[in-house]
Parts: sequence; structure tokens; C-alpha cells
Amino acid sequence: PTTRNYNFVLEERTGALDGVSKGMLVVNGVFPGPTIEVNQGDRVIVNVTNKMPNSTAVHWHGLFQRGTNYYDGTRGVTQCGIPPGESMVYNFTLDNYVGTTWWHSHYETQYSDGISGAFIVHTPTEQVPAYDEDLVIQMSDLYHMWSGAVLNYYFTPGGIAGVPGNEPIPDGGTINGIGQYGASNSSFFNFTLEANKTYRLRLINTGSFVNMQFSIDNHVLTVVEADGTAVQPFQVNSLWLTVAQRYSVLVTTNQTAGAYWMRAGLDTSSFNYPSPNTQTEVRGVIRYGTSDPNAMPNTALLTNPPTLPAGSPGPMAVDSTALAPANVTAAPNATFTSYVTVSMQYPAGQDYLGEFLAFVNSTSWAPLMNTTTLFSHTGSNLVDSSATFNDSQLITTIDEVNVVQLEVDNLDDSDHPFHLHGHKFWVMDIGVGRYQGGAFNNTNPMMRDTFVIPAYSHAIIRFVADNPGFWVFHCHIAWHMAAGLLYTFNILPSQSANFQIPQYMIDQCTMSS
Ligand code: C2O
Repeated sequence: PTTRNYNFVLEERTGALDGVSKGMLVVNGVFPGPTIEVNQGDRVIVNVTNKMPNSTAVHWHGLFQRGTNYYDGTRGVTQCGIPPGESMVYNFTLDNYVGTTWWHSHYETQYSDGISGAFIVHTPTEQVPAYDEDLVIQMSDLYHMWSGAVLNYYFTPGGIAGVPGNEPIPDGGTINGIGQYGASNSSFFNFTLEANKTYRLRLINTGSFVNMQFSIDNHVLTVVEADGTAVQPFQVNSLWLTVAQRYSVLVTTNQTAGAYWMRAGLDTSSFNYPSPNTQTEVRGVIRYGTSDPNAMPNTALLTNPPTLPAGSPGPMAVDSTALAPANVTAAPNATFTSYVTVSMQYPAGQDYLGEFLAFVNSTSWAPLMNTTTLFSHTGSNLVDSSATFNDSQLITTIDEVNVVQLEVDNLDDSDHPFHLHGHKFWVMDIGVGRYQGGAFNNTNPMMRDTFVIPAYSHAIIRFVADNPGFWVFHCHIAWHMAAGLLYTFNILPSQSANFQIPQYMIDQCTMSS
């Protein structure tokens, strides 16, 4: 194992990703931020310097942080936040996470403004077919306003377009930081590839809200990895990613030399009101090395099969029906059950800010912001007196190693891409309506860290709760998390009580805003 050192300087910049000038928050001057690329077992040391006007915290999505829960970077749960002008060192080892993931700010909706990048972990024993070269493709929806302003619209009583709970519709999107808005930009992200080679494209949806549909004209995609789990390869002509999901696809450059469109389509089915100016498809260009370097594609989306298996319920079907792990492991029997409901509504009496909030059971999460509660909370249903409403914390404490079965009824009319920190989980069952006993996939359940619970549906996952610390389970839609759609597991508190939390992290709690 090697020690890998990174310096991240976070600052405010003006950018024009799709030709429209906008305020951004960036790492080392760029968006996407630096790719962290390491081997399994390596130590990663990232010195984060905050030159932004607000506090921050950086989260390493999908990583297990075994023994270092306090470096999980979740503001209001594992740290108070790095105040403006201050630095903090994150220092952790890559235990057994392998594959494609990403890092991002976990402070309010800050990552929507640009604080994100890829995180790749290699190992020679990864169970994916051979390929020649690795490429990272970070896709994202894009809002021209600051995320804080977008969030204010979302929180406005009465909602956007007069309907409470309407999610803000993005203006467009980007592929590796480049998009096209109307006629205002004619730049495209492009890769030049050699003919007759196999490339591994590491697709990451780093967006705030919408699902993205990725494809390359004339090329078949072979899916080989999802959220760090090698899968039994299957072929598609396009692939949907919810926010925070990752897939690796293999692409063979077996077409005639030329240029081909790479497409990232925004899922307009999640748009709740008309947004005629949204750029609903962003493009990039793939050029074969022998072709004219300025040639532009004149190609069309591959419409003939292969496509998703027959009978698939919809574009999200890869979550539940097509994905099987390469290394089939039966899920162990559950020894601990947690049942929760998810809903979005005005709080009873509507007397809290008049905001439309998200609830897990009857709790709408708000960050905990003082040392005593943050580092020593015990029990469940902690009340943070500094929050604007009561019952800001729903915490399930698990005192000994258990196989947790988490049963979620989504009572809301939106799909929710949920993510669990610090663990991967088995997807046991997803189905329409409330949970009434499962039809579990016990034989080859997919294991991942981000999956969608469709509107008015239930989902059952299992995970082995053996990693000490506070780990959150939350909807990764930035607007939903900010509205409180987050629930916390406090796992093995007798072990996390012995963590040596660096003093500078405790000091943040009295400095931070
Ligand atoms: Cu991508 Cu809570 O994280």
C-alpha cells in the first residue's frame, strides 16, 4: 500500500459550463474536481482548505471508513464543518471498496455548485472482464442559479409553479464539466479513442436531482460494475443512472473511423411543471484517432436491441431486474428490523417556516451543530434544541453486530434515490405499494450503495451493521436531503466511543456557522 496525498483548495469562481455564466464552487480551480485514483489498501490523505465564504465538509461517497467514521465528512452528523479560512486533513485507508465512486461536499446543497470529483479504486483481482483503458465520465444536471437560491425557491410556501413539493428543474447538464445551453455553447467534451480497443467508461451521476440516460451512438455498452460491485455483464444501448449511482461499461471501438455522439439525457418524467428552456440532452463527442480531429458527428442513437430485458418495468429496471453480482452471495438472514416511512408534506400546523419538508417517519432531519450532541449522542430521537423545529434526529442505535433489514415505504409521489453511508446493502425487494411481506431475492441479490425507491413503492434492503459510527441513510436528491430526508444509524456505540477524534474537528463546532 502507498500513501496518496492530495491538496484540495475550495473556492468560489465564475464559470460558464454550458455557455451561460454562473457562480460556482470549485476544487483547485476546476470542475469536475481532481480525480482520486488509488489502489485497494492505500492510505489517502486529503488536505482540504476552505477559501469559500461558507463552511464545508467533504464526503467520500461509498467508502467504508472503517474505524474512521469521523472522516466521513457528513456535516451535522460526523463533523460540524470546516469554517471559512480553515483547513482540515482527512486521513483514511481504502479497506475493501473497489471500483468507481466519487467525493463531494456534504454541506447543505454545496455539491450542486461544483464541489465533486471521481474516486477510483483499483485492484488486480476485480472481477471485471479485461479492458485496455479507463475513462471517467461525470454527468450532472446543471442549475444556472446558486444552489442556495434554488433551494429557497423549493422552500417557498406554495412551492414552485404554485404546487408544494415541485422539485426545481435544472437548466441543463454537463458531461465532464461541459454542456450546451440552447445556442449559447458549441463546445463538447470529447475523447479521442483508438480503433479496435476496449475502453472502460466509469459513469458517475454527480447531479442534484434528475436521472441521466447515457449512450454512445452506434456503440453497445456492456455493464460490468455498479457502485463498486462487479456484475454479471449484460448489454444495453443506453443506461440510466440516478443521482450518485455509478456504472462501469465496456465499449469496443469496432465501428468505422469517424465521430460519434455521446449523449446524457435528462429524465424529463421527473419534471413537475413546464420548463421549456431546459436543455434536456447534453452531448459529448467520441472520435476515432484516425479521423479528422475536427469532424463532428452525424449519428443517431442506437435504437435496435440490445436493450433492457423484456418485461422490464422501466428505465430504472437495472436496479432490480437486470443486475446480478458477478460474485453471487446469498444475503444472510435478518437479525434486526427497522421499518420507516418516507413522506413529503407541510409539518403539522404549518408553523415551522411554512416549508414543505421531507420526513422519515415523523422526523425531518436538520444538522446537529454542537459538540456535545454531535460526538456523544446516545439513544434515539434526540432533540437538537438549536434547530428550528423539534425532533430533527431519527437515530436507530444498533448495539451489537446485526444483519439489519431496513424496510421502507415510500408514501411520496416522487422516486427517491437512497444512499447508505459506510456500508453496501443487498437489494432484497422493490415493489409497488406498501410493504406487506417480501418476495425476497435471496439467491443473487445485488449489492450496492445507492438505489431508487420508486414513488408509492416499498423497498427492502439488508446490510451487516458491523462498522462503528454514525452512518446516514438519505435521499441523494440535494433538495430532498436539504428538506430533511435523512435518517441515522448509530452502529456499535461502545466501539465508536473509543475513537480518537482530532481536536481540530471538535474545535470546528465552536467556530463553524
Ligand atoms: Cu454521496 Cu450522503 O452522500
